Amino acid sequence: MISQELMEARRYEAEAESRIAKEARPAFHLTPRAGWMNDPNGFCYYKGQYHLFYQYYPYASRWDSMHWGHAVSDDLLHWTYLPAAMAPDRPYDKDGVFSGSAVEMEDGRLLLMYTGVRMGDPSARPLTQVQTQCVAVGDGIDFEKYASNPVIDENAVPAGGSTEDFRDPKLIRMADGRLGCIVADRPADGSGQLLLYTSPDGFSWTYKGVLASNRCRFGRMWECPDFFPLDGKQVLLVSPQDMLPSGLEYQGGNGTLCLIGSYDEAACAFREERDQAVDYGIDFYAPQTVLTPDGRRVMIGWMQNWDACAIREPEAPWAGQMSLPRELSLRDGRLYQWPIRELDALRKDKAAYRDVAVGRERLYLDGISGRTVDLEIRVRPKDPEKSYSKFVIRFAEEGETCTSVRFRPQESTLKIDRKYAGSRRAILHERRCLVENAARELTMRIILDRYSCEIFIDGGRKVMTAALYTDLSAEKISFRADGDAVMDITKYSL
Ligand code: FRU
Repeated sequence: MISQELMEARRYEAEAESRIAKEARPAFHLTPRAGWMNDPNGFCYYKGQYHLFYQYYPYASRWDSMHWGHAVSDDLLHWTYLPAAMAPDRPYDKDGVFSGSAVEMEDGRLLLMYTGVRMGDPSARPLTQVQTQCVAVGDGIDFEKYASNPVIDENAVPAGGSTEDFRDPKLIRMADGRLGCIVADRPADGSGQLLLYTSPDGFSWTYKGVLASNRCRFGRMWECPDFFPLDGKQVLLVSPQDMLPSGLEYQGGNGTLCLIGSYDEAACAFREERDQAVDYGIDFYAPQTVLTPDGRRVMIGWMQNWDACAIREPEAPWAGQMSLPRELSLRDGRLYQWPIRELDALRKDKAAYRDVAVGRERLYLDGISGRTVDLEIRVRPKDPEKSYSKFVIRFAEEGETCTSVRFRPQESTLKIDRKYAGSRRAILHERRCLVENAARELTMRIILDRYSCEIFIDGGRKVMTAALYTDLSAEKISFRADGDAVMDITKYSL
């Protein structure tokens, strides 16, 4: 039975979508069908197609009572909207259908697990919220919420855990075929922990233990866990709130954290070995992964960040985008990311130059411009004995308007700067990361898709992502250096 609330959302989004011109959206990044989008949800491969759901408020371009939007794709680049999957329409989720995940059940139906949010006692001050885990089952288009929801309620939180910050269930398959579910929670120390529950069927769940604990090291509460094997190790992705910056590895605010280690399923223990940020740019949060039929682990994140949402003007017809799908691998103990190989099929209009001298004079090259482009760049000092001190590429440029990427080989730092990208807000506009070993040769692949840039550095060892809402008429790309640099560049339109 489709509720009144869901019917209204579906009617509204279909009509609102028709008012948004195709060109007003990115070409191959998913945006909300109408209104607001945040986290990716329920990312899965089901009956021959990729399904991506998302945190969704269709009625305005701001966060409000959460629904699940829905889209499907064959290649993760061309998306077709399906009707909104869920609305906040039950007593246990009337204040929000928050983030969650999906898995195919043994009988072929799709199981969605999400956090239902309801306000607690209305007379209590401060007002409290109750977060519980709920499920819905469906055919890939329509989903029926389970009659006995929630399936993991506040009583299943271990002593000291929070029932207000208890969310974002991630479904996994256990070694013995049972379902597992990892839920983010706030323990007594005020930071984050991940709780593991198991189930034979997706409906009755048993608490197993604490899979991982923040212990106040990486921000406070951890949101949106994902957990999967990769190249012989186990990877845990979480999105910590309230990070303190640490060197150039972690940035303040809402961050992304990748822990690499091993997993002892019988002991319910994840043993961390290494930690790193997932993205070093401005806008990347709450990623989820999917395993493709040919065995690739692919990640998509919300290409926005809570503290920087004001970059989008409130009257915009849509707000929020998903990142490029990125293939993940582990190399030298680090997480590497690379644009999904399906993107190569979109490449056209090749322009390539080798051994281009770049110096103080700003350089424009024939055929190298645009806002939907794939750029591969290699930069080295002209004289190996005497490096240039700064290399700058500017894109989405017109007059003073631009976004820039600056590399300083003496500091080994790369900086993204979107101060001049057209934003009228006093929010964070630049970030730096360390790029080790690039003094001899810096390599970058930069993907622009109208309202974003994603910079894959050093073969995907580091990635910097930023949303930019620069007017589309700004499409020049230029290069300059302090000192003498030499560059090879290949550009494709996408
Ligand atoms: C992360 C998050 C989740 C929550 C959702 C609500 O961005 O805060 O923890 O489920 O957004 O929209």
